[in-house]
Amino acid sequence: MNTENTPEIDIIKASQSKISQVDFDNLTFGNTFTDHMLVCDFKEGQWQKPVIKPYEPFLIDPSAKVFHYGQAIFEGMKAYRDANNQVWLFRPDQNMDRFNKSATRLAMPEVPKDIFIGGLKQLVALEEQWVKGGKGNSLYIRPFMIAVGSGVIAQPSTQYRFMIILSPAKSYYSGEVKVIIAEHYSRAANGGIGAAKAAGNYSAQFYPTKLANEQGFQQIIWTDDATHTKLEEAGTMNVFFRINDTLITAPTSERILDGVTRKSLLDIAQKEGIQVDVRSLTVDELVKAAQDGSLKEMFGAGTAAVVSPIKGFQYQEHYYELTPQDQPMALFLKEKLTNIQYKLEDDPFGWTV
Ligand code: COI
Repeated sequence: MNTENTPEIDIIKASQSKISQVDFDNLTFGNTFTDHMLVCDFKEGQWQKPVIKPYEPFLIDPSAKVFHYGQAIFEGMKAYRDANNQVWLFRPDQNMDRFNKSATRLAMPEVPKDIFIGGLKQLVALEEQWVKGGKGNSLYIRPFMIAVGSGVIAQPSTQYRFMIILSPAKSYYSGEVKVIIAEHYSRAANGGIGAAKAAGNYSAQFYPTKLANEQGFQQIIWTDDATHTKLEEAGTMNVFFRINDTLITAPTSERILDGVTRKSLLDIAQKEGIQVDVRSLTVDELVKAAQDGSLKEMFGAGTAAVVSPIKGFQYQEHYYELTPQDQPMALFLKEKLTNIQYKLEDDPFGWTV
């Protein structure tokens, strides 16, 4: 593994690995963590020396701002093992750049590249045996930053903790995905934090998503907050629509996350000669396309979800089920993307690191 940008890091190794206790064939997403984590504190206006140490709980003051004001951001990335036993990251710079944009929006300090990428490479190299080979297996990487400074005054903290934890993963959704189109609740508004990967963006979706789950839907497709007429993204993934042979997805905006999987699929689709239309699709257009049969596919795209075909959607109490396609575009794009990630075919974009 290439370890350029390597910062000086203290490494404290775990006395024993937990790996032999893990059933890698039966993993629930995000429940199992590797032996080590990276921790780097920001205080007195500076990043301190990072440390890689055994994965364990830690103490923070009950008045820390993360608890009271949700000053917290995160990223989602993955490491993959190829057939030659080498371990690869996928477009890590994109995640770092987005992380630092999120940091700026939440009034947090940016994390320098040598800590984010250099630290990540050292951590993944140390935990290499947790990256299992074979398509569908990966090591999910969760970098995050929390405000650890104490005091309940509603001001940005002066102390932060940046951490990276790692979790062996298979798929995010184990069964079919049916979605409901948002008519009342909103995920984000212009001028808000929708484009940031802020913890609060996700917790704010828990309640409406719980209501959707109770009705038998796995996810909500969010619509614009002002009119609820334009389709935006699903809670854990960006969303794509195939109408006839055109692939449509919403443009990124102040309300929509600039997904790395989203932009990679768009590049692959364009390279493969698929007609791509980055524009806001309206709910009316979607319903009409479902009724006249021109809506061929819908799918979500994200690091955790990869490419998740959507079986049908509900809008205004009416459920529209999509007809399964002989040659789904979702699976074609997923194959192309994962072939690059697992080095099964050339990476013409230079995305793997
Ligand atoms: C990811 O795809 O990595 C995400 O951040 C979604 C997460 C909520 C599981």
